[in-house]
Amino acid sequence: MTRGEHSVKSPADGAVIDRVDPPVAVATSGIIDVQDAWQAHLTDERNDWADPNRDEGFWAANVESYEDRLIEPPAGIGVIDALLEGGESALEIGPGTGRYTRRLSQRVDRVTAIEDATPVRSYLRSSLEAAGLADSVDIVPRSWEHVTIVEASDAESTAARLSPHDVVVAGWSLYRQPELGECLERIHAAANTGFVLIDSPGAVPPHRRLAIDADETVLPSPPPRAAYYSTLLADCGLFPEVHIERRPRVRRASTLERLVADLLGNAAIEPDTAADALDPWLNRHDGGWEYRYELPVAVLVWRASDA
Ligand SMILES: C[S@@+](CC[C@H](N)C(=O)[O-])C[C@H]1O[C@@H](n2cnc3c(N)ncnc32)[C@H](O)[C@@H]1O
Repeated sequence: MTRGEHSVKSPADGAVIDRVDPPVAVATSGIIDVQDAWQAHLTDERNDWADPNRDEGFWAANVESYEDRLIEPPAGIGVIDALLEGGESALEIGPGTGRYTRRLSQRVDRVTAIEDATPVRSYLRSSLEAAGLADSVDIVPRSWEHVTIVEASDAESTAARLSPHDVVVAGWSLYRQPELGECLERIHAAANTGFVLIDSPGAVPPHRRLAIDADETVLPSPPPRAAYYSTLLADCGLFPEVHIERRPRVRRASTLERLVADLLGNAAIEPDTAADALDPWLNRHDGGWEYRYELPVAVLVWRASDA
C-alpha cells in the first residue's frame, strides 16, 4: 500500500478492502457494498432503464410531450445559479429537452451538453435555436461513460476528451452508469468550481406505489439514487450538501380512463380500483382530468471551495 492508503475489514465477510484517504470516508462502503447494490439494481430484469436502446425508443415517442409533466422551475435551480456566479462554462450530462440547459446558457458563455439519445439531440437543437440560445451550447453526441476528462492545457480537446468546466450539472441522468463510482470521480475531475446532481432520494409517486404493491413484475423504482451518489462520493472523500426540494408533478388526459391507463401502463390493476386509490390526487381540469402530486427531489451540491 502506498502513502495515504489504508485498509479496513469488511464486517460482512472479513475481507480486507483498500481505501484511499481521508479515513473518514471508509465508514460508508466498508459496511455495505454500494457499487454491488447499484450493479444488482442495474441488472434487475425488471429494470429496462439500464439499456441505452430504451432511451432511444422512449425519447422517440415522448420528446415532444416530456415537459408537459413537469412544472417549472426544475429542482436545484437556486443552487445552480449560486454556483455559476462568476463562472464562464458549464458541462451538462444528459440535458434531455433542455430544462437546465436553457438556464445554464443564459448564465455562462459556454455550455457543453453531453447527450447520447438521437431524438433528444435534434429536439434540443431546434428548441435552443427557437429560443435564440443555440450559439452558446455545444451538444456532444456521446455517452458520459465514453468521455475522458483531460487537463485544460491539453490542446486536443475533442468530443471524447473534454477539459474541465467551471460547473457540472447532471439532472436525472446517471441512472444507467455501469461504474457509478468512476462516473462520479469523472464528474469531480470535470468540475473546477463545483457540481450539482439532481435525482431521486427514493420517494415513490402514488401511482407507482400502487403499481408496485399490485404487481410484482413492476420494479420498485426509483431507487434512492441520491443515497448511492452521496455514499460513493464519500468513498472519494467528497461530502456534498444535500437539499430536499418538494416539486409538483402533473399528468393530464381527456378522460379519467386514459389518465389511469397512462399512469399504470401494463400493471395488473383494475382501472376502477386504481382511480379510487388515486382519488386524493385526481381533479377535473379544463374539461379533462389531472393527476397532481408532490415529489421530494434530492439536490446534491459539492463546492471546490468547501473541500
Ligand atoms: C430523465 S432525462 C433528464 C433530462 C434533463 N436533465 C431534465 O432533468 O429534464 C435523462 C437524459 O439523460 C440522457 N442520458 C442518460 N444516460 C446518459 C449517458 N450515459 N450519457 C449521456 N446522456 C445520457 C437521456 O438520453 C436523457 O436525455
